[in-house]
Amino acid sequence: MMMIMTSNEFRDGLAGVPAAKSRVSHVDGEKGILEYRGIRIEELAEKSSFIETAYLLIWGKLPTQEELEDFETEIRYHRRIKYHIRDMMKCFPGTGHPMDALQTSAAALGLFYSRRALDNPNYIRAAVVRLLAKIPTMVAAFHMIRKGNDPIQPNDDLNYAANFLYMLTERRPDPLAAQIFDVCLTLHAEHTMNASTFSARVTASTLTDPYAVIASAVGTLAGPLHGGANEEVLNMLEEIGSVENVRPYVERCLANKQKIMGFGHRVYKVKDPRATILQDLAEQLFAKMGHDEYYDVAVELENVVEEYIGREKGIYPNVDFYSGLLYRKLGIPADLFTPIFAIARVAGWLAHWKEQLTVNKIYRPTQIYVGDHNLAYIPMAERVVDRDPGTVSA
Ligand code: CMC
Repeated sequence: MMMIMTSNEFRDGLAGVPAAKSRVSHVDGEKGILEYRGIRIEELAEKSSFIETAYLLIWGKLPTQEELEDFETEIRYHRRIKYHIRDMMKCFPGTGHPMDALQTSAAALGLFYSRRALDNPNYIRAAVVRLLAKIPTMVAAFHMIRKGNDPIQPNDDLNYAANFLYMLTERRPDPLAAQIFDVCLTLHAEHTMNASTFSARVTASTLTDPYAVIASAVGTLAGPLHGGANEEVLNMLEEIGSVENVRPYVERCLANKQKIMGFGHRVYKVKDPRATILQDLAEQLFAKMGHDEYYDVAVELENVVEEYIGREKGIYPNVDFYSGLLYRKLGIPADLFTPIFAIARVAGWLAHWKEQLTVNKIYRPTQIYVGDHNLAYIPMAERVVDRDPGTVSA
């Protein structure tokens, strides 16, 4: 139900405040429905591919066979990254988080393709293709470089999802694994006005270049309350360790008012439909590649959370809950889970970038000032020492 606001009403986290009119996607949080451009996520997961879904999101319609082939060919052609970007990554600390490396690299693309022409469809198309094509290559390249290896060149024989898995290992992935990974990308491609999409739209509204738009969205996605939760889920399952430990863990979290990672959502008050699909995919993958003991811990956690707070507060698994287990079975290291979320979400961010350009008015909200007025300037000698200013080591 849409809440009507008075003009000066303030809501923490802008909860329930519409920030844009959009045709890109729709969520019904009470019924657990997600649609991209009007098509249910379950149908896209079953029948579409990530690239076709990206086309749907960005251009607003399903492509014809010819349009899809052209789009795939362009993306395949642009997968390689310039050696400058590779060399720049070699200067990054290997201990740095891959999301930070990705944010920096995405922004750096703007240095190479800086001719901004937002009213030129060819410029828009080239930016869309380059970003979709190069972001996976940059994620894989940083992963190889931090291990002391040269990046693996993209393999033109492989589709988008399979090529990414290949660039992490230099081995052709199992076809089922690649197909499941492609569905994971489709599931993460878009999700209405979340924090990173809002960030993308705010940045887009200044008419800056699309690489800056994606870089700001990547930085926003990185936080543990947003895309970073999938990595935290795996750490949490490992910390819990066994099915018997689940109940005491949940009790401890609730007693300490600590959030349980991978649960809860601003919009969904039922189980996230993507979590249901991901759980099913995880079971398919485990059936082929071997069971994961932490899956049993996860299922028990879902049951116990539902029993304690689920029904009362509408806290159920979100998209991040089962994705980590699935990626781990694919052999992907935990700190690449959020960059993979970003690889997929680039499609949604670009759709919102394009939409923002068509209706643009720069975002400039207001604030409610709650500070002081008319204070005197205190002379240095009379100032009081701050008890907790923090320290910085040399
Ligand atoms: N574990 C325990 N209690 C929770 C959780 C949780 N994961 N999520 C919400 N609650 C409780 C919360 O304590 C509060 O209780 P009370 O009303 O008694 O104070 C109530 O539910 C409402 O929570 P909220 O934090 O006010 O809700 P929000 O809409 O501001 O936050 C959220 C949504 C996703 C940030 C939050 O549920 C959370 O921090 N979850 C854990 C992190 C996570 O899994 N994030 C991924 C989100 S989905 C994908 C994405 O956006 O990237």
